[in-house]
Amino acid sequence: MAEGSVKERLGVLCSGRGTDLQSIIDAIARGEVEAEIAVVLADKPEAYALERARQASIKAVCVDRKQYEGREPFEEALIGELEAAGVTLVVLAGFMRILTPVFVHHYAGRILNIHPALLPSFPGAHAHRDVLAYGVKVSGCTVHFVDEGTDSGPIILQAAVPVLDDDTEETLGARVLEQEHIIYPRAIQLYCEGRLRVEGRHVRILEGKN
Ligand code: GAR
Repeated sequence: MAEGSVKERLGVLCSGRGTDLQSIIDAIARGEVEAEIAVVLADKPEAYALERARQASIKAVCVDRKQYEGREPFEEALIGELEAAGVTLVVLAGFMRILTPVFVHHYAGRILNIHPALLPSFPGAHAHRDVLAYGVKVSGCTVHFVDEGTDSGPIILQAAVPVLDDDTEETLGARVLEQEHIIYPRAIQLYCEGRLRVEGRHVRILEGKN
């Protein structure tokens, strides 16, 4: 975002408890992310992320996946809500649905995701389980642009944590989550400052604000 220009309007998509969402809400409140959350969407009514949004006086809407037959009508509904809220950047924060190329093209280059592993290792919905089963000694988290693949878009930021011998999915998940709450707001702010330049698979981080 250039100085003096309009703030990015974030649409945050969640499926669950929403701690990543909370980290973004808190970073905005501290002035560390210069953006506005225009709407929070969840794909199920019980997602606690909706409650977190309401507590922060942010518009919260459930687009209940169960109410739609097929992915395309569901995504059309998501796009409808995002457009109605004037969203300029889509932020996936624990959103456990694969988006079709229709959605990805609609917001090409304007969708971020956080994944709880060091991509390209351990993509998919069970990263911590897969990490522990494989026996790696280091894991972490990855913020990336979303492309048409699963967890395959250009990488913006990563953070690493040790995997301990006695880790469970819960203990490892908690250690990774601490890092998620640092790097996701940071990556969003870099986007908002116009400092991310995508060159093929590479995301260059430009010096200073642009
Ligand atoms: C986070 O660990 C996030 O990286 C992960 O879900 C969790 C959401 O936590 N996302 C994925 O696995 C996406 N494939 P939260 O609901 O507390 O933010």
